[in-house]
Amino acid sequence: MRKKDTHTKMKIFILILVGMGSILQAQKFTSLAQTPPMGWNSWNYFACDSLNEEVVKATADAMLNSGMKEAGYQYIVIDDCWQIDRDSKGKIIVDSIKFPHGIKALADYIHSIGLKFGIYSDAGTHTCGGHPGSKDYELIDARTYAEWGVDYLKYDWCNTEGQEVKSSYTKMRDALFKAKRPIVFSICDWGESRTWEWADTVGHLWRTTLDIAPRWDGNRWGNQLGWTEILEKQVGLEKYAGPRHWNDPDMLEVGNPGLNINESKTHFTMWCMLAAPLICGNNLMNMSDSIQAILTNKNLIAIDQDSLGKQGFKIYDEGNFEIWQKPLVNGDIAIAFLNLENKTKDFTFEFNKLPIKGVQGTYKALNLWNNTKLALSDDKINISIPARGVLIYRLSEE
Ligand code: GLA
Repeated sequence: MRKKDTHTKMKIFILILVGMGSILQAQKFTSLAQTPPMGWNSWNYFACDSLNEEVVKATADAMLNSGMKEAGYQYIVIDDCWQIDRDSKGKIIVDSIKFPHGIKALADYIHSIGLKFGIYSDAGTHTCGGHPGSKDYELIDARTYAEWGVDYLKYDWCNTEGQEVKSSYTKMRDALFKAKRPIVFSICDWGESRTWEWADTVGHLWRTTLDIAPRWDGNRWGNQLGWTEILEKQVGLEKYAGPRHWNDPDMLEVGNPGLNINESKTHFTMWCMLAAPLICGNNLMNMSDSIQAILTNKNLIAIDQDSLGKQGFKIYDEGNFEIWQKPLVNGDIAIAFLNLENKTKDFTFEFNKLPIKGVQGTYKALNLWNNTKLALSDDKINISIPARGVLIYRLSEE
Protein backbone atom coordinates (compact mmCIF):
# COMPACT_ATOMS: atom_id res chain seq x y z
CA MET A 1 0.00 0.00 0.00
CA ARG A 2 2.75 2.38 1.05
CA LYS A 3 4.82 1.54 -1.99
CA LYS A 4 1.84 2.26 -4.21
CA ASP A 5 1.40 5.68 -2.54
CA THR A 6 4.99 6.62 -3.19
CA HIS A 7 4.65 5.45 -6.75
CA THR A 8 1.55 7.61 -7.32
CA LYS A 9 3.26 10.62 -5.73
CA MET A 10 6.27 10.12 -7.98
CA LYS A 11 3.98 9.96 -11.00
CA ILE A 12 2.21 13.18 -10.02
CA PHE A 13 5.56 14.88 -9.42
CA ILE A 14 6.82 13.85 -12.85
CA LEU A 15 3.59 15.02 -14.47
CA ILE A 16 3.94 18.41 -12.76
CA LEU A 17 7.54 18.69 -13.94
CA VAL A 18 6.61 17.80 -17.51
CA GLY A 19 3.71 20.25 -17.36
CA MET A 20 5.95 23.02 -16.07
CA GLY A 21 8.50 22.22 -18.73
CA SER A 22 6.02 22.60 -21.54
CA ILE A 23 4.67 25.84 -20.06
CA LEU A 24 8.18 27.23 -19.84
CA GLN A 25 8.95 26.24 -23.39
CA ALA A 26 5.78 27.57 -24.96
CA GLN A 27 6.47 30.72 -26.91
CA LYS A 28 5.73 32.33 -30.21
CA PHE A 29 7.78 31.19 -33.20
CA THR A 30 10.74 33.51 -33.07
CA SER A 31 12.07 32.95 -36.57
CA LEU A 32 9.08 34.65 -38.24
CA ALA A 33 8.22 38.23 -39.21
CA GLN A 34 11.77 39.51 -39.05
CA THR A 35 10.40 42.35 -41.21
CA PRO A 36 6.71 43.36 -41.42
CA PRO A 37 4.71 40.57 -43.12
CA MET A 38 3.67 41.23 -46.73
CA GLY A 39 0.69 39.64 -48.45
CA TRP A 40 -2.99 39.92 -49.25
CA ASN A 41 -6.15 39.39 -47.21
CA SER A 42 -9.65 38.82 -48.56
CA TRP A 43 -11.58 41.03 -46.13
CA ASN A 44 -11.30 44.64 -47.35
CA TYR A 45 -12.59 43.90 -50.84
CA PHE A 46 -14.37 40.54 -50.81
CA ALA A 47 -15.68 40.50 -47.22
CA CYS A 48 -17.99 37.52 -46.58
CA ASP A 49 -20.26 36.98 -49.51
CA SER A 50 -17.79 37.13 -52.39
CA LEU A 51 -15.11 34.99 -50.73
CA ASN A 52 -14.53 31.60 -52.35
CA GLU A 53 -11.88 29.19 -53.57
CA GLU A 54 -11.77 30.54 -57.14
CA VAL A 55 -11.24 34.10 -55.96
CA VAL A 56 -8.42 33.04 -53.64
CA LYS A 57 -6.66 30.90 -56.26
CA ALA A 58 -6.97 33.58 -58.93
CA THR A 59 -5.66 36.15 -56.43
CA ALA A 60 -2.64 33.95 -55.74
CA ASP A 61 -2.04 33.67 -59.51
CA ALA A 62 -2.34 37.44 -59.82
CA MET A 63 0.18 37.92 -57.01
CA LEU A 64 2.61 35.83 -58.99
CA ASN A 65 1.91 37.30 -62.43
CA SER A 66 1.78 40.96 -61.39
CA GLY A 67 5.31 40.97 -60.00
CA MET A 68 4.01 41.24 -56.44
CA LYS A 69 5.60 38.01 -55.32
CA GLU A 70 8.89 39.19 -56.76
CA ALA A 71 8.45 42.49 -54.89
CA GLY A 72 8.21 40.56 -51.60
CA TYR A 73 4.52 39.75 -51.06
CA GLN A 74 4.13 36.26 -49.66
CA TYR A 75 0.97 35.51 -47.68
CA ILE A 76 -2.47 34.86 -49.17
CA VAL A 77 -4.82 35.10 -46.18
CA ILE A 78 -8.50 34.18 -46.14
CA ASP A 79 -10.39 36.21 -43.56
CA ASP A 80 -13.76 35.51 -41.96
CA CYS A 81 -16.54 33.32 -43.42
CA TRP A 82 -14.69 30.18 -44.57
CA GLN A 83 -15.98 28.09 -41.62
CA ILE A 84 -19.53 26.96 -40.85
CA ASP A 85 -19.66 24.51 -37.95
CA ARG A 86 -17.83 21.85 -35.92
CA ASP A 87 -18.17 18.08 -36.23
CA SER A 88 -18.88 15.73 -33.33
CA LYS A 89 -15.17 15.65 -32.45
CA GLY A 90 -14.95 19.43 -32.41
CA LYS A 91 -13.05 19.75 -35.68
CA ILE A 92 -13.94 22.82 -37.69
CA ILE A 93 -16.09 22.29 -40.78
CA VAL A 94 -15.25 24.28 -43.89
CA ASP A 95 -18.01 25.88 -45.97
CA SER A 96 -18.04 23.41 -48.86
CA ILE A 97 -19.98 25.72 -51.16
CA LYS A 98 -17.31 28.39 -50.96
CA PHE A 99 -14.41 25.91 -50.75
CA PRO A 100 -15.52 22.69 -52.51
CA HIS A 101 -12.01 21.22 -52.46
CA GLY A 102 -11.36 22.06 -48.84
CA ILE A 103 -8.71 24.25 -47.29
CA LYS A 104 -5.81 21.84 -47.55
CA ALA A 105 -6.13 21.66 -51.34
CA LEU A 106 -6.18 25.45 -51.47
CA ALA A 107 -3.10 25.73 -49.25
CA ASP A 108 -1.34 23.11 -51.38
CA TYR A 109 -2.07 25.12 -54.52
CA ILE A 110 -0.79 28.33 -52.94
CA HIS A 111 2.38 26.58 -51.78
CA SER A 112 2.85 25.03 -55.23
CA ILE A 113 3.29 28.50 -56.74
CA GLY A 114 5.75 29.55 -54.05
CA LEU A 115 3.42 31.56 -51.80
CA LYS A 116 2.29 31.08 -48.22
CA PHE A 117 -1.20 30.57 -46.87
CA GLY A 118 -3.04 32.26 -44.02
CA ILE A 119 -6.36 31.82 -42.29
CA TYR A 120 -8.61 33.61 -39.78
CA SER A 121 -10.27 32.71 -36.50
CA ASP A 122 -11.41 34.37 -33.30
CA ALA A 123 -10.54 34.06 -29.60
CA GLY A 124 -14.22 34.02 -28.66
CA THR A 125 -17.13 31.69 -29.24
CA HIS A 126 -17.87 33.19 -32.65
CA THR A 127 -16.08 35.31 -35.21
CA CYS A 128 -17.17 38.85 -35.99
CA GLY A 129 -19.20 37.43 -38.89
CA GLY A 130 -20.93 34.94 -36.55
CA HIS A 131 -18.99 31.81 -37.55
CA PRO A 132 -17.53 29.35 -35.04
CA GLY A 133 -14.64 30.83 -33.04
CA SER A 134 -11.76 28.95 -31.43
CA LYS A 135 -12.61 29.41 -27.73
CA ASP A 136 -12.07 26.01 -26.04
CA TYR A 137 -10.97 24.52 -29.37
CA GLU A 138 -7.55 26.17 -29.54
CA LEU A 139 -5.48 23.00 -29.70
CA ILE A 140 -7.68 21.12 -32.11
CA ASP A 141 -7.80 24.19 -34.38
CA ALA A 142 -4.04 24.73 -34.19
CA ARG A 143 -3.49 21.08 -35.11
CA THR A 144 -5.95 21.37 -37.99
CA TYR A 145 -4.13 24.46 -39.29
CA ALA A 146 -0.79 22.63 -39.06
CA GLU A 147 -2.27 19.66 -40.92
CA TRP A 148 -3.60 21.96 -43.67
CA GLY A 149 -0.29 23.80 -44.06
CA VAL A 150 -1.37 27.16 -42.66
CA ASP A 151 1.49 29.71 -42.35
CA TYR A 152 -0.33 32.72 -40.87
CA LEU A 153 -3.24 33.11 -38.46
CA LYS A 154 -5.24 36.31 -37.94
CA TYR A 155 -7.04 35.95 -34.61
CA ASP A 156 -9.95 38.28 -33.91
CA TRP A 157 -11.62 39.40 -30.67
CA CYS A 158 -15.39 39.36 -31.25
CA ASN A 159 -17.76 37.49 -28.87
CA THR A 160 -15.24 37.24 -26.05
CA GLU A 161 -17.44 38.40 -23.15
CA GLY A 162 -15.75 37.64 -19.84
CA GLN A 163 -12.45 36.59 -21.40
CA GLU A 164 -9.12 38.07 -20.40
CA VAL A 165 -7.29 39.28 -23.45
CA LYS A 166 -3.66 38.35 -22.86
CA SER A 167 -4.41 34.84 -21.59
CA SER A 168 -6.84 34.21 -24.45
CA TYR A 169 -4.23 35.11 -27.06
CA THR A 170 -1.50 33.29 -25.15
CA LYS A 171 -3.63 30.16 -25.17
CA MET A 172 -3.71 30.17 -28.96
CA ARG A 173 -0.02 31.08 -29.17
CA ASP A 174 0.80 28.02 -27.06
CA ALA A 175 -1.53 25.80 -29.07
CA LEU A 176 0.19 26.89 -32.29
CA PHE A 177 3.55 26.20 -30.72
CA LYS A 178 2.39 22.79 -29.63
CA ALA A 179 1.14 21.99 -33.13
CA LYS A 180 4.74 22.57 -34.23
CA ARG A 181 4.15 24.33 -37.56
CA PRO A 182 5.67 27.84 -37.61
CA ILE A 183 2.69 30.18 -38.05
CA VAL A 184 2.76 33.98 -37.99
CA PHE A 185 0.33 35.03 -35.26
CA SER A 186 -1.61 38.21 -36.04
CA ILE A 187 -3.49 39.63 -33.05
CA CYS A 188 -6.66 41.57 -33.83
CA ASP A 189 -8.18 43.13 -30.70
CA TRP A 190 -8.17 46.57 -32.37
CA GLY A 191 -5.68 47.95 -29.83
CA GLU A 192 -8.45 48.09 -27.23
CA SER A 193 -6.26 46.58 -24.50
CA ARG A 194 -3.30 48.82 -25.42
CA THR A 195 -2.12 45.65 -27.11
CA TRP A 196 1.33 47.07 -27.91
CA GLU A 197 2.10 47.03 -24.16
CA TRP A 198 1.75 43.26 -23.74
CA ALA A 199 1.71 41.51 -27.09
CA ASP A 200 5.35 41.37 -28.19
CA THR A 201 5.94 37.94 -26.66
CA VAL A 202 2.55 36.64 -27.78
CA GLY A 203 2.11 37.63 -31.43
CA HIS A 204 4.13 38.83 -34.39
CA LEU A 205 1.82 41.76 -35.15
CA TRP A 206 -1.17 43.38 -33.49
CA ARG A 207 -3.85 45.73 -34.68
CA THR A 208 -3.66 49.17 -33.10
CA THR A 209 -7.09 50.56 -34.05
CA LEU A 210 -10.58 49.79 -35.24
CA ASP A 211 -11.02 48.65 -38.84
CA ILE A 212 -9.79 50.70 -41.75
CA ALA A 213 -12.30 51.99 -44.33
CA PRO A 214 -11.53 52.82 -47.98
CA ARG A 215 -11.66 56.53 -47.24
CA TRP A 216 -9.25 59.42 -46.91
CA ASP A 217 -10.71 60.52 -43.58
CA GLY A 218 -13.86 60.42 -41.45
CA ASN A 219 -15.48 57.10 -40.72
CA ARG A 220 -17.83 54.55 -42.24
CA TRP A 221 -20.68 53.02 -40.23
CA GLY A 222 -19.34 54.80 -37.17
CA ASN A 223 -16.63 52.26 -36.42
CA GLN A 224 -14.41 52.11 -39.50
CA LEU A 225 -11.82 54.80 -39.95
CA GLY A 226 -10.36 56.54 -42.97
CA TRP A 227 -6.63 55.89 -43.26
CA THR A 228 -5.46 59.37 -42.23
CA GLU A 229 -7.41 59.00 -38.96
CA ILE A 230 -5.60 55.72 -38.34
CA LEU A 231 -2.26 57.32 -39.16
CA GLU A 232 -2.70 59.90 -36.40
CA LYS A 233 -3.39 57.13 -33.89
CA GLN A 234 0.06 55.61 -34.54
CA VAL A 235 1.86 58.59 -33.03
CA GLY A 236 3.78 57.44 -29.94
CA LEU A 237 3.52 53.73 -30.75
CA GLU A 238 6.85 53.65 -32.59
CA LYS A 239 8.79 52.41 -29.59
CA TYR A 240 6.77 49.19 -29.42
CA ALA A 241 7.56 47.94 -32.94
CA GLY A 242 10.59 46.04 -34.14
CA PRO A 243 11.70 42.80 -35.78
CA ARG A 244 9.21 39.98 -35.01
CA HIS A 245 6.72 42.31 -33.27
CA TRP A 246 4.92 44.94 -35.30
CA ASN A 247 2.19 47.48 -34.79
CA ASP A 248 -0.52 46.80 -37.38
CA PRO A 249 -2.50 49.88 -38.47
CA ASP A 250 -4.71 47.47 -40.50
CA MET A 251 -4.66 46.15 -44.02
CA LEU A 252 -4.15 48.38 -47.03
CA GLU A 253 -7.04 50.00 -48.88
CA VAL A 254 -4.76 50.86 -51.83
CA GLY A 255 -6.72 50.37 -55.06
CA ASN A 256 -10.13 50.07 -53.44
CA PRO A 257 -13.11 52.21 -54.48
CA GLY A 258 -13.17 55.20 -52.15
CA LEU A 259 -9.55 56.24 -52.68
CA ASN A 260 -8.23 57.69 -55.96
CA ILE A 261 -4.81 56.78 -57.34
CA ASN A 262 -3.10 59.72 -55.72
CA GLU A 263 -4.71 59.03 -52.34
CA SER A 264 -3.74 55.36 -52.61
CA LYS A 265 -0.15 56.36 -53.30
CA THR A 266 -0.05 58.60 -50.23
CA HIS A 267 -1.64 55.87 -48.08
CA PHE A 268 0.92 53.30 -49.27
CA THR A 269 3.81 55.69 -48.64
CA MET A 270 2.74 56.36 -45.07
CA TRP A 271 2.18 52.65 -44.31
CA CYS A 272 5.77 52.06 -45.48
CA MET A 273 6.92 54.89 -43.20
CA LEU A 274 5.14 53.13 -40.32
CA ALA A 275 6.89 49.80 -40.98
CA ALA A 276 3.33 48.50 -41.22
CA PRO A 277 2.57 44.96 -42.33
CA LEU A 278 1.83 45.38 -46.06
CA ILE A 279 -1.28 43.26 -46.39
CA CYS A 280 -3.08 44.32 -49.57
CA GLY A 281 -6.85 44.45 -49.43
CA ASN A 282 -7.80 45.13 -53.03
CA ASN A 283 -8.89 42.98 -55.96
CA LEU A 284 -5.55 41.86 -57.42
CA MET A 285 -7.29 40.17 -60.34
CA ASN A 286 -8.29 43.40 -62.03
CA MET A 287 -6.08 46.12 -60.57
CA SER A 288 -4.94 48.94 -62.84
CA ASP A 289 -1.32 49.36 -63.90
CA SER A 290 -1.04 52.43 -61.67
CA ILE A 291 -2.18 50.50 -58.59
CA GLN A 292 0.15 47.64 -59.44
CA ALA A 293 3.01 50.16 -59.78
CA ILE A 294 2.21 51.56 -56.33
CA LEU A 295 2.10 48.16 -54.64
CA THR A 296 5.33 46.99 -56.26
CA ASN A 297 7.45 50.13 -55.88
CA LYS A 298 10.77 48.70 -54.76
CA ASN A 299 12.08 51.94 -53.25
CA LEU A 300 9.05 52.19 -51.00
CA ILE A 301 8.99 48.52 -50.07
CA ALA A 302 12.65 48.83 -49.06
CA ILE A 303 11.63 51.55 -46.58
CA ASP A 304 8.94 49.33 -45.07
CA GLN A 305 11.12 46.23 -45.01
CA ASP A 306 14.28 47.94 -43.79
CA SER A 307 16.14 45.47 -41.59
CA LEU A 308 16.59 47.94 -38.74
CA GLY A 309 12.84 47.52 -38.17
CA LYS A 310 12.19 51.03 -36.88
CA GLN A 311 8.70 52.46 -37.15
CA GLY A 312 8.56 56.02 -38.51
CA PHE A 313 7.45 58.90 -36.29
CA LYS A 314 6.10 62.39 -36.73
CA ILE A 315 8.63 65.20 -36.29
CA TYR A 316 6.61 68.20 -37.44
CA ASP A 317 2.91 69.05 -37.53
CA GLU A 318 1.19 72.21 -38.62
CA GLY A 319 -2.28 70.73 -38.92
CA ASN A 320 -2.65 69.85 -42.56
CA PHE A 321 1.04 69.48 -43.20
CA GLU A 322 3.29 66.96 -41.45
CA ILE A 323 6.85 65.66 -41.67
CA TRP A 324 7.65 62.07 -40.70
CA GLN A 325 11.02 60.41 -40.22
CA LYS A 326 12.03 56.74 -40.32
CA PRO A 327 15.54 55.63 -39.36
CA LEU A 328 17.04 53.07 -41.76
CA VAL A 329 20.09 50.81 -41.88
CA ASN A 330 23.53 52.32 -42.40
CA GLY A 331 22.41 55.65 -40.97
CA ASP A 332 20.05 56.34 -43.89
CA ILE A 333 16.86 58.22 -43.08
CA ALA A 334 13.49 58.31 -44.84
CA ILE A 335 11.70 61.66 -44.71
CA ALA A 336 8.09 62.09 -45.82
CA PHE A 337 6.43 65.48 -46.35
CA LEU A 338 2.70 64.82 -46.09
CA ASN A 339 0.14 67.29 -47.42
CA LEU A 340 -3.28 66.46 -45.99
CA GLU A 341 -5.01 69.36 -47.71
CA ASN A 342 -6.83 69.22 -51.00
CA LYS A 343 -4.55 71.81 -52.61
CA THR A 344 -0.85 71.99 -53.43
CA LYS A 345 1.44 72.84 -50.55
CA ASP A 346 4.61 74.83 -51.20
CA PHE A 347 7.21 74.45 -48.49
CA THR A 348 10.52 76.22 -48.15
CA PHE A 349 13.14 74.95 -45.74
CA GLU A 350 16.82 74.87 -44.92
CA PHE A 351 17.91 71.28 -44.59
CA ASN A 352 19.91 71.81 -41.42
CA LYS A 353 16.97 73.46 -39.74
CA LEU A 354 14.54 70.60 -40.29
CA PRO A 355 13.73 68.88 -36.98
CA ILE A 356 15.22 65.57 -38.15
CA LYS A 357 16.62 63.48 -35.32
CA GLY A 358 20.12 62.04 -35.37
CA VAL A 359 21.42 63.83 -38.46
CA GLN A 360 25.19 63.95 -38.68
CA GLY A 361 27.23 65.08 -41.65
CA THR A 362 26.01 65.84 -45.13
CA TYR A 363 23.42 63.85 -47.01
CA LYS A 364 22.19 63.28 -50.50
CA ALA A 365 18.46 62.79 -51.01
CA LEU A 366 16.66 60.54 -53.47
CA ASN A 367 12.99 61.12 -54.28
CA LEU A 368 11.60 57.60 -53.97
CA TRP A 369 8.66 57.99 -56.33
CA ASN A 370 10.47 59.52 -59.32
CA ASN A 371 14.10 58.64 -58.58
CA THR A 372 15.30 62.23 -58.93
CA LYS A 373 17.90 63.67 -56.59
CA LEU A 374 17.38 66.64 -54.38
CA ALA A 375 20.45 68.72 -53.60
CA LEU A 376 20.55 69.30 -49.86
CA SER A 377 22.34 72.43 -48.82
CA ASP A 378 22.25 75.19 -46.23
CA ASP A 379 20.41 77.33 -48.77
CA LYS A 380 16.68 77.54 -48.95
CA ILE A 381 15.07 74.58 -50.70
CA ASN A 382 11.60 74.84 -52.22
CA ILE A 383 9.40 71.83 -52.61
CA SER A 384 5.86 71.53 -53.84
CA ILE A 385 3.70 68.72 -52.48
CA PRO A 386 0.63 67.77 -54.50
CA ALA A 387 -2.86 67.96 -53.02
CA ARG A 388 -3.39 65.00 -50.63
CA GLY A 389 0.09 63.93 -51.68
CA VAL A 390 3.43 63.09 -50.19
CA LEU A 391 7.06 63.60 -51.12
CA ILE A 392 9.33 60.95 -49.73
CA TYR A 393 13.12 61.04 -49.77
CA ARG A 394 15.78 58.60 -48.76
CA LEU A 395 18.69 60.48 -47.23
CA SER A 396 22.10 58.82 -47.37
CA GLU A 397 25.33 60.18 -45.98
CA GLU A 398 27.68 61.48 -48.64
C1 GLA B 1 -13.20 42.37 -37.56
C2 GLA B 1 -11.75 42.60 -38.01
C3 GLA B 1 -11.73 42.76 -39.53
C4 GLA B 1 -12.30 41.51 -40.18
C5 GLA B 1 -13.72 41.25 -39.67
C6 GLA B 1 -14.25 39.91 -40.15
O1 GLA B 1 -13.97 43.50 -37.78
O2 GLA B 1 -11.20 43.72 -37.37
O3 GLA B 1 -10.41 43.02 -39.96
O4 GLA B 1 -11.47 40.42 -39.90
O5 GLA B 1 -13.77 41.26 -38.25
O6 GLA B 1 -15.51 39.62 -39.67
